[in-house]
Amino acid sequence: MVYLDSAATTLQKPPAVRRAVLSAMERMASPGRGGHRPAMLAAETAFSCREAAAELFHLKDPENVVFTLNATHALNIAIKSTVKPGDTVVVSGYEHNAITRPLAALGCHIKVARSPLFDREGILAAFDREITGEVSCVICTHVSNVFGFILPVKEIAGMCRERNVPFILDASQSAGAIPVHMDELGCAFIGMPGHKGLYGPQGTGLLLCGEGKNTLPLLEGGTGSLSARQEMPDFLPDRLEAGTHNAPGISGLLEGIRFVKRRGEGNILRRERELTHMAVTGLGRIPGITLYAAEVPENQAGVLSFTLEGMDCEEVGEKLGRREVAVRAGLHCAPYAHESAGTIAQGTVRASFSDFNTPGDVKRLIQEISLLAR
Ligand code: ALA
Repeated sequence: MVYLDSAATTLQKPPAVRRAVLSAMERMASPGRGGHRPAMLAAETAFSCREAAAELFHLKDPENVVFTLNATHALNIAIKSTVKPGDTVVVSGYEHNAITRPLAALGCHIKVARSPLFDREGILAAFDREITGEVSCVICTHVSNVFGFILPVKEIAGMCRERNVPFILDASQSAGAIPVHMDELGCAFIGMPGHKGLYGPQGTGLLLCGEGKNTLPLLEGGTGSLSARQEMPDFLPDRLEAGTHNAPGISGLLEGIRFVKRRGEGNILRRERELTHMAVTGLGRIPGITLYAAEVPENQAGVLSFTLEGMDCEEVGEKLGRREVAVRAGLHCAPYAHESAGTIAQGTVRASFSDFNTPGDVKRLIQEISLLAR
């Protein structure tokens, strides 16, 4: 199998991740729920994971790193802690349903800072225009999950700081490949999955909380702390972590983060960009293909969308799958991104790369698409 669907989840993981998950299943109990060795080992591992994440994403306090089920869970907490029903919120034209559906459920007025694909100046002008006095929050993805477009989030965060509007960053597609700097961005919250570019198992995610931010638990329950009280603790991470932790998942995620640190985000991004460039060059020679690639390669991460003339995207995805090439086709849970790129009617086929892909994988994709195009 040639796996090119890492924007959904990375399938190939560093061997240490699998070892850590298995070992945790044999040796770890519930962190914070006992003074015995298996509980203490789980607690120590959870804290090491918070420390590793705090170091990678530049947070002063590891206690502000909260474990979640996935990025959607993290972003729901971020949104519901920051936005009230009916508020006006600005988002980019590249957001995922993980952002837009919670906002719709809250009955928010969503202002879309719409701009053409890969146009960094255009998107900054759009945010500048849309962040007006009545706006209570700005939410933006770091990298489009459909097109790999790297959004100028430093500048957008700067605008939010100047105008005193809380900023939530969706780092689902950037964490692990592009530096995410909590201190420098001054975000209210950053949400991310553990199972994509951080190479952890599915069922893991992280919410990074800004200093002193109000937080709203989505779940109430046992935390192993202040058990005599009926209210959730008012301190992090306990306030947002009711119920038993995913100790095997967290153990795997710790090893995934250690892998990213050892390998270096810059090296991972470089590799993914090289593979993207190779795909753009090879696929670009195929008649009838439309590629969504940035003119300036620095504006694109390791995600490439395309369409094939006369062939439905889902059909292309299905045929590739039958030939053991895994891609994702359709709207990728991100209708806003397809509206911005003009692909909402038909969707796209998406190939997305990880540090474990090789030039041979890309050659195979090119071969298979050439066959389909004949
Ligand atoms: N958001 C993930 C994707 O882009 C699941 O496929």
